Amino acid sequence: MNPLHALKTNPFVLAPMAGITDHAFRTFMKKLDASVVVTELVSASGIEYKSEKTLKLMSFDETQRPIGVQLFGEDPEILAKGAAFAEADGCDFIDLNFGCPVPKVVKKGAGSAMMKDPVQMQKVLSAVKAAVKIPVTIKIRTGWDSTTRNASEICNIAYNEGMEWVAIHGRTRNQGYSGFADWDFIAEVKANAKLPILGNGDILTPRQAVLRLEQSGCDGVMIGRGCLKNPFIFMDALSLWRGESVKDVKRDYVSLFNSLKNEVVAHCDEHITGIQLRKFAAWFSTGYPGAAQFRKNLFQSKSNEEIMTLANEFFASIGSVEQEDQSKDEFLMGGHG
Ligand SMILES: Cc1cc2nc3c(=O)[nH]c(=O)nc-3n(C[C@H](O)[C@H](O)[C@H](O)COP(=O)(O)O)c2cc1C
Repeated sequence: MNPLHALKTNPFVLAPMAGITDHAFRTFMKKLDASVVVTELVSASGIEYKSEKTLKLMSFDETQRPIGVQLFGEDPEILAKGAAFAEADGCDFIDLNFGCPVPKVVKKGAGSAMMKDPVQMQKVLSAVKAAVKIPVTIKIRTGWDSTTRNASEICNIAYNEGMEWVAIHGRTRNQGYSGFADWDFIAEVKANAKLPILGNGDILTPRQAVLRLEQSGCDGVMIGRGCLKNPFIFMDALSLWRGESVKDVKRDYVSLFNSLKNEVVAHCDEHITGIQLRKFAAWFSTGYPGAAQFRKNLFQSKSNEEIMTLANEFFASIGSVEQEDQSKDEFLMGGHG
């Protein structure tokens, strides 16, 4: 399934987040109306060495289509081989990470460092495109720093190399996650771009998602952290975008959390299950009465059974209470894109 076609009926894409948007979470978010989904970043060298850990990051199921595998690396040939491997494994498209700001990645010339070297990026795009038949997309930042915001130049290269779309996180590499995503800049790049553009950064409410989409003129928007505090953001944004009222479904966090737990248990060992359940329960509790104490209890809990008991009690207690607006709080200020 071509990911671009999916945007026509649902332009709200789940942003890749390492350690978060794994197999389990992607399946969960698809059920909650996320459109296209992408794996977290996967090392092309890891694929080359057939690292078990790397290959596990690429696992997906049919419900996730259209599903992209996001690769990072610096060597065109290794990236091309990684892309061919992912294609043979059955994914719908390849996404290339040029947004990761993490020093370990950047030092090697991968991730956002490639924004400083458009010649090398062009070689990567050309090699990957030649290696696969499925669409190839890229995810970038606005530039390396405020004096070198070259997203438009990168979009031209991407167009010439036959990329399907460019997703732009509206910050420079040097900003990391500080300040705000520059949506005016994204809109400017979109206005001049010859290929589809996805805007990304700081979308925290369904209404904001629709406004950003409309005001920027983008072909889609990517939502990352926003769905961790409000897992209904995709469903509600889609309704608003279609001109419908927000779906009158029961916001039942107990069954929501249990359905996420079932996915996590199916795909993670006991230790990782505990880590993931604590994180998600803590994030979903944001803005509800008693959240601070709940989090303390969660992080002192000794077993996954205890986590589920605490979560079931807490989520049952919030009933139909409205979530308080926490959008001004800093939240997850680090990550690979
Ligand atoms: C914890 C975390 C992990 C991330 N991992 C990735 C990643 O693997 N690949 C990527 O392209 N972007 C990654 N990102 C960046 C997000 O995709 C997104 O661009 C960024 O969070 C801004 O969007 P948001 O404000 O909607 O979260 C990550 C972000 C966070 C917070």
